[in-house]
Amino acid sequence: MTRIDLLLEEMTLQEKIGQMTMSAAGFAVTGPVLAGDATEDIRAGLVGSLLNIYGAEPTHRIQRVALEQSRLGIPLFFGFDIIHGHRTIFPIPLAEAATFQPDLWERTAREAAIEAAQDGVHLTFAPMLDVTRDPRWGRMAEGPGEDPFLASVYAAAKVRGFQGSDLATTDHIAATAKHFVAYGAPTGGIDYMSADISDRSLHEVYLPPFETAVGSGVAAIMPAFHDIAGIPMTANEPLLKNWLRRHLGFSGVLISDYNAVAELIEHGVAGDVVEAAILALRAGIDIEMISTIYRRGLPEALDRALIGLEEIDASVRRILRLKEALGLFDAPFGRGGAIDAESEHAADRRRLARDVATRSIVLLSNNGLLPLSDPRRVAVVGPLANERVEMRGSWPAAGDPRDPVTLFEGLSSALPQADVVHAAGVSIEDGDWSRVDGALDICRSADVIVLCVGEAALMSGEAASRASLDLPGRQKEFAEAVLALGKPVVAVLSSGRPLTVSWLIDRAHATLATWFLGNEAGNALGDIVTGRASPSGRLPVSWPRSLGQVPIYYAQRPSGRPATQPGRYASKYIDLPTTPLFPFGYGLSYGRFVYSDLTIGNARVGRNGNIEIMVSVANEGDATAEETVFLFIRDVVASVARPRMELKGFSKIELPPGGRGILALVLPVSALQFPGRDFNPVLEPGAFEVLVGPCADRQKLVSANVTVSDDPVQGRGP
Ligand code: NOJ
Repeated sequence: MTRIDLLLEEMTLQEKIGQMTMSAAGFAVTGPVLAGDATEDIRAGLVGSLLNIYGAEPTHRIQRVALEQSRLGIPLFFGFDIIHGHRTIFPIPLAEAATFQPDLWERTAREAAIEAAQDGVHLTFAPMLDVTRDPRWGRMAEGPGEDPFLASVYAAAKVRGFQGSDLATTDHIAATAKHFVAYGAPTGGIDYMSADISDRSLHEVYLPPFETAVGSGVAAIMPAFHDIAGIPMTANEPLLKNWLRRHLGFSGVLISDYNAVAELIEHGVAGDVVEAAILALRAGIDIEMISTIYRRGLPEALDRALIGLEEIDASVRRILRLKEALGLFDAPFGRGGAIDAESEHAADRRRLARDVATRSIVLLSNNGLLPLSDPRRVAVVGPLANERVEMRGSWPAAGDPRDPVTLFEGLSSALPQADVVHAAGVSIEDGDWSRVDGALDICRSADVIVLCVGEAALMSGEAASRASLDLPGRQKEFAEAVLALGKPVVAVLSSGRPLTVSWLIDRAHATLATWFLGNEAGNALGDIVTGRASPSGRLPVSWPRSLGQVPIYYAQRPSGRPATQPGRYASKYIDLPTTPLFPFGYGLSYGRFVYSDLTIGNARVGRNGNIEIMVSVANEGDATAEETVFLFIRDVVASVARPRMELKGFSKIELPPGGRGILALVLPVSALQFPGRDFNPVLEPGAFEVLVGPCADRQKLVSANVTVSDDPVQGRGP
């Protein structure tokens, strides 16, 4: 008998349900329910894990209670939201996605895991894999953007980074893929709202990143708060049991979201706690977070024979297996120890934070002002110019609020020869106009103005949906007053989503989307404006012209009446183009890249073959720069209309001025599969268009055709 079998034999019902109960330690409040002190419950074996606790001392102290004072001495595990760094705060996930660098996504997760493990944490509620195409939804900031392929690559990198190859090594932590599923498509962009989506978008867009996470061995999955077409995800048997468990074979732990089991009553699918507990258990939720509904509902459900003990046992077994995999039975104090804050490794981590932040910045427009050439006086103005805490974005984990380098500080140290001065002018939100004259005065005497506007950190993230994508407060008026001075202006946008500010982008001499860059925000901005680094961030989401275009994404299906068709009866707005202001993948650099000579090694390829693609990229600009090369495909004729373009790969190339490189990309034909009419994957032979270039704008892509034949062997067949 295994250790887990033995434990299961010994456990009382109460103790089993205890393992299925996650309580809060009260370190950070992340939802509407405040939990009290869980110590007594831990002693009584009524709690199996805690969230919102970190630090070697408190985690070890409470672990000791579980080990030494509970009847069976089963160790606890501690979960925490480590969304973009633990102590070292990296850029928010949306920003990090803009690097299009899986090696960096993995390294930041790895570093976050090291820091979190030093703080006694065993599991993070990350990565968030919600594909989202609606910037009103504040949680766009927490995920990798609009594309399922991108989200899948991101999923694999993050799971690898957090978990490594062996969860028991004490500098790794368990990852939780969330929020399963289609949480990024709430009605009206309002957080927690129902998603009424088709089975097709579920299978094509929202499920794939989770499939990748499961394939990468993710330890846990968190179902989303919302419902899909009337079935709350916390009780969604078809998706949790049938798809995740049976179809994908996911054998890890399902952890409910915060209080979500109790919220089944509010959803209107459970009449009381017993019904709520039954629904969640039936769907396969192993651990319920915070609501104590399992504790209150499962015993009665069992008494009335509405559930079977074997359902409870199955969950407890999965939870104990996770604890075993984390090495908790053998080394319950293995995590939580010396913090390496002063070490050489910590200095490397800080350098990594700066590198990722620099690479997250997207240059949206530039009339040649950037990089700045030896300015004498620079005015850094706007409400985000010298904000420290805001730079962290939402979910700052255990980050020290004193750590971030402000934009003003970063620019001051990047431009030591210049006189760099600062004034906020206005606040992010309130209407106070009294400091505007002073700010305009310092602008008047400057030769360049860096205008730092945008959102507050908590205007994105959870429960932060916005019905407008404009600059909040009186920032627009302030920006217009600054622009009216007629001086060169670099607009710096801090936000957790694209903002609809074409009026600003049109008039500023350069615009940078800096999202929320974390601890190294100011230094990263300094690296970009001085030209020490050429901007290499690319948009992981389409940037709308106007809110009326939302939801907006590049992978739309072709209409029978394309917008390009002449006349009135085409698929378009009568008052605005249908194209975004900036497409997915867009971003300028200090170089100028030109694509040519796209060749396909084999114009005809069998279903088991590979498509070999070569493209020539030249830097015709006058600075060394890095280009992100995107590979899209279009399935020309299929049994189900395919998107106009689908991302299938991306790669980077750095070239000096005048440099040219040949990029070779290999696309396995199997990547051309799609969910068929019955949602099972199909590969349909026929013509495919291969498109390569800088972003999802057809005009900017070079293309070639390839035919997939029914023959398995490459190049043969009819
Ligand atoms: C609610 C959020 O939806 C989820 O992402 C988070 O992990 C939990 N709260 C725990 O803080």
